[in-house]
Amino acid sequence: MENQRQVKRVAVIGAGIMGAGIAQLAAVSGYEVTIFDADQDQLARARQQTEASLAKLVSKGMINEGVSMAALQRLHPFGSVTEAADGADLVIEAVVERLAVKQAILTEAATVAAESALLATNTSQLSITAIGSAVPAASDRVVGMHFFNPPVLMRLVEIVAGLETSEAAIATARSFAESLGKETVVCKKDSPGFLTSRIAAIVRLECMRMLEEGVGTAEDIDRALRLGLNFPVGPLELGDRNGHDTFLLAAESMASTLGERFRPTVGLRNLVAAGRLGRKTGRGIYRYDERGAIVRPG
Ligand code: NAI
Repeated sequence: MENQRQVKRVAVIGAGIMGAGIAQLAAVSGYEVTIFDADQDQLARARQQTEASLAKLVSKGMINEGVSMAALQRLHPFGSVTEAADGADLVIEAVVERLAVKQAILTEAATVAAESALLATNTSQLSITAIGSAVPAASDRVVGMHFFNPPVLMRLVEIVAGLETSEAAIATARSFAESLGKETVVCKKDSPGFLTSRIAAIVRLECMRMLEEGVGTAEDIDRALRLGLNFPVGPLELGDRNGHDTFLLAAESMASTLGERFRPTVGLRNLVAAGRLGRKTGRGIYRYDERGAIVRPG
């Protein structure tokens, strides 16, 4: 990839918390967006969530009705990676945080995407170089584009360069992120957890340890960090929003690369084993009503 690529069509693979949000963001910004998820029910849920999210943005005056309707028309669900990625200028994978799954997705997408398409991964901590190694002929076009939850509202996209990633790929990723209204930072050295996730994980895990040691209630730990340390959201509540299953995979992976301090707690493992994955399942550290609001005890 020699020059920065002009992006018109975007394929998003994975329609979970992140994929649905990234697809919505791109569609609102005027891109034609194709989306695929291995779970077709999730694809349908993602559509409903997108409609609800757009309606909320309209009601808050952040976008107008016309933009919302046009965005929905630009979002096209498909039944396979091959169909969704066919001819795309940019593929963004946002599937489960497992290296082999991400490698398989990009391998399949690379065969059908436009020549010299940018192949981006939304991994929060896996090696971009390792993901790119699955597509040796295109590893210069594999780049980390790490969005934050919720992608529609969070300001940052962290661009991550793998060992083989070209400057042109980084430039394309950066200008695409900016076209979505985001600010960017570049993590120049492919390093587990990049500039953000390793910090977020340490804080979250320490809060989990305090909770499990009985140092304070979840509410008080979160309040303490919000009011005393100016965190916009308590780390335990944020864990519920992000999904404990995804965080467990990330923490296990970072424990294997960065060391013991990232080792998941027993309580985190138990939450996942019990299916208390957070807001997406109605229960995590907190309980949620059908609108996704925390149900306060008493
Ligand atoms: P999620 O669990 O909400 O969604 C993942 C989706 O991938 C699911 O809908 C699943 O059906 C789908 N999927 C799994 N295997 C697939 C395959 N082979 N083909 C197509 N679809 C497949 O997870 P979430 O939270 O959206 O995370 C996705 C990625 O984004 C992960 O790499 C995660 O680390 C990263 N990320 C997550 C953040 C968060 O706050 N949840 C923040 C930033 C990055």
